[in-house]
Amino acid sequence: MAKNKKWDEIKSVFEDIKNCEQCRSLPDVGDIPVFPRGNPDAMVMLVGEGPGEQEEKQQKPFVGAAGKLLEENLKGLGFDVERDFYITNVVKYRSYQLLPSGRKKNKPPTVRQINVERNFLEREISIVKPKLIVTLGAKASQWFLGKDFKLTQDHGKFFSWYGITILPTYHPAAVLRAYAISGGEERLHDFKNDLRKIQDVIRPSMAA
Ligand code: URA
Repeated sequence: MAKNKKWDEIKSVFEDIKNCEQCRSLPDVGDIPVFPRGNPDAMVMLVGEGPGEQEEKQQKPFVGAAGKLLEENLKGLGFDVERDFYITNVVKYRSYQLLPSGRKKNKPPTVRQINVERNFLEREISIVKPKLIVTLGAKASQWFLGKDFKLTQDHGKFFSWYGITILPTYHPAAVLRAYAISGGEERLHDFKNDLRKIQDVIRPSMAA
């Protein structure tokens, strides 16, 4: 399918997301959905958990500190992020916790929110038809591999989901958090090693 045709189809999914009353009526959920970025013709899809404050502001997934870490590492492997990947999230609306100060703190999406938004990611996958999906973090990995999936045990291994290869790895925000505490070097090392496995399926020169 031509790239523009795919974007048209993805845009129509997004019209449905924007009009999703149920999505916005959930407690502690933002009201601006975050559109995916990258190339809908790419063979590799990156799936995060959900947009944070920066992503909601800039209306693009993975543009905050976690996104920078992810991009740096993918570039280091020779990939062009906008050309070689289609980047999206399990949920498109930001999930937050309202602090007494009135500030909104990013929070992982609830099971309810994930279920309400489930069909949007399913539709994106059926339009993009990726060969490989890299799941970033436990929530995204469990979306594909079930709630009993253990990231610490099985990150960096290949799984199959309806004929698509799934490669689960850590969420880059969790890598940054671990780095700020002790033992972070090991998590970063694992994250880099997991991302390197993308090259077992697809080389940068043939990625899109
Ligand atoms: N974390 C995510 O899971 N997705 C984003 O888009 C940004 C941060």
